[in-house]
Amino acid sequence: MDGNGRWAQQRYMPRFFGHKAGVDALVKAVNLFADRGVEYLSVFAFSSENWKRPYDEVSGLMGLVLVAVSKYITKMAADGIRIRIVGDRSRVSDRLLAAWDEAERLTADNRRLHLTVAFNYGGRWDVTQACQKAMADGVKAADLTEEVLAQYMAFHFAPDPDLFIRTGGEMRISNYMLWQSAYTELYFTECLWPDFDAVQIDRALAAFAGRDRRFGSIPAAQTLSAGD
Ligand code: FPP
Repeated sequence: MDGNGRWAQQRYMPRFFGHKAGVDALVKAVNLFADRGVEYLSVFAFSSENWKRPYDEVSGLMGLVLVAVSKYITKMAADGIRIRIVGDRSRVSDRLLAAWDEAERLTADNRRLHLTVAFNYGGRWDVTQACQKAMADGVKAADLTEEVLAQYMAFHFAPDPDLFIRTGGEMRISNYMLWQSAYTELYFTECLWPDFDAVQIDRALAAFAGRDRRFGSIPAAQTLSAGD
């Protein structure tokens, strides 16, 4: 959800104003994606690297997430959204952890759309913690297949993503879902996250629909032998 800071600066407002608008955009986007048949949506809310930001911005974001959970959780629950939070919980405050637990518990039976919020998350952290858990479980090196390791990863409950959308104009993955996005279609847009509305979503989905996904194979027609 990149571009909140610039969106605010363009309006001569503090960066926090952009993050607030980012939350509103997220709440709308969740329903727009669900209406279009998307079943799993994950958003990168705070990366392992975001701690490097000024103290005020980090604490502002923490407070914003806390407020956002209490403000929107009833609506999300009523809209059929199941919420999960993934990431390293070790540096997150007890208050925020309690709010996460409540959000997960309240929405656990919902199935319209699975929303995963990645918070204090990094793709490299995920691979590392999965290996650590597997080793702690006594999994032997020879038994550590891709499938086994995937079960220990933070996104173990979700299918690998079909589409990766990055707003804000940067063309990189920035340590998001590194393992899971091996065959994910990438879509980059200049649009700043608070402006990511229905039109932008339809544009991204249309671009995805036009992609030829071969997963390392060759087009089906070329796999037929002569006479088939
Ligand atoms: C990146 O924009 C955005 C973030 C680091 C924060 C995103 C978090 C939210 C929108 C809050 C999510 C809340 C809940 C409840 C899940 P940036 O600040 O890097 O923007 P810039 O590139 O324009 O500086």
